[in-house]
Amino acid sequence: MSAAAPLPRHIAIIMDGNGRWARLRRRPRLVGHRAGARAVRACIELCLQRGIPALTLFAFSSENWQRPPEEVRGLMKLFLGVLEREVDDLHARGVRLRFIGERARFEPAIRARMAAAEALTAGNARLQLTVAAGYGGRQDIARAARALAEQVAAGRLRPEQIDEHLLGTQVALADLPPPDLFIRTGGELRISNFLLWQLAYTELWFTPVLWPDVDAALLEQALADYAGRERRYGLTSEQLAQGGTEHAA
Ligand code: IPE
Ligand code: IPE
Ligand code: MG
Repeated sequence: MSAAAPLPRHIAIIMDGNGRWARLRRRPRLVGHRAGARAVRACIELCLQRGIPALTLFAFSSENWQRPPEEVRGLMKLFLGVLEREVDDLHARGVRLRFIGERARFEPAIRARMAAAEALTAGNARLQLTVAAGYGGRQDIARAARALAEQVAAGRLRPEQIDEHLLGTQVALADLPPPDLFIRTGGELRISNFLLWQLAYTELWFTPVLWPDVDAALLEQALADYAGRERRYGLTSEQLAQGGTEHAA
């Protein structure tokens, strides 16, 4: 990859395949989730090294609450442990950590850790790391619509003022550029209710590699592929070559 190759400003990842990784080893699914937590570190490291300023990781979907209670309990324990162990190091490296998704269902100890991590790292700017936990894309859009409806009901907004831009200010990650690159590991070719609004013009990259096996070399492959994409935003290649029309992403 040449030095001039465009880098994504924001990568969004569905970290999938932990359960299958464990099954291949005849181990419980939670062993796969634990191994997956290690791959998260490699991914953060790559963003820091390459100067990629925003990373959003799908850790737990709104639908994942319906998994067997034992798996959900194990994931919560893992989540709490990671928060306890990793936040100070992330802070020392200039990472700003935030969470998106419905928090009410998380146990108080986890919610407290999330809030503390966000407060501690609020002033950091080297990497914007967002963890989607209890997150659903449809829920995100519905909440945004409700927030605007409340403003209309309160007389602060007229319905005709609602447009794409205004709705976009109410969804998650509104203060970041939309993801340039989406990665899904684990071989499934679907979005699974991740960032539905935010991914409108994101470049999609899928790999059969299971999340716990992800390393820097694989992520470099995704970056190299991304660098070769032509992002047309509905225009023609000729228009892009003329450089006349700027896309307001
Ligand atoms: C992703 O791995 C992690 C979570 C959804 C929490 P999976 O647990 O979905 O792994 P597979 O897809 O069953 O292999
Ligand atoms: C998506 O993976 C959610 C996360 C990785 C957190 P799933 O494993 O839940 O998705 P489906 O069920 O295969 O669509
Ligand atoms: Mg899965």
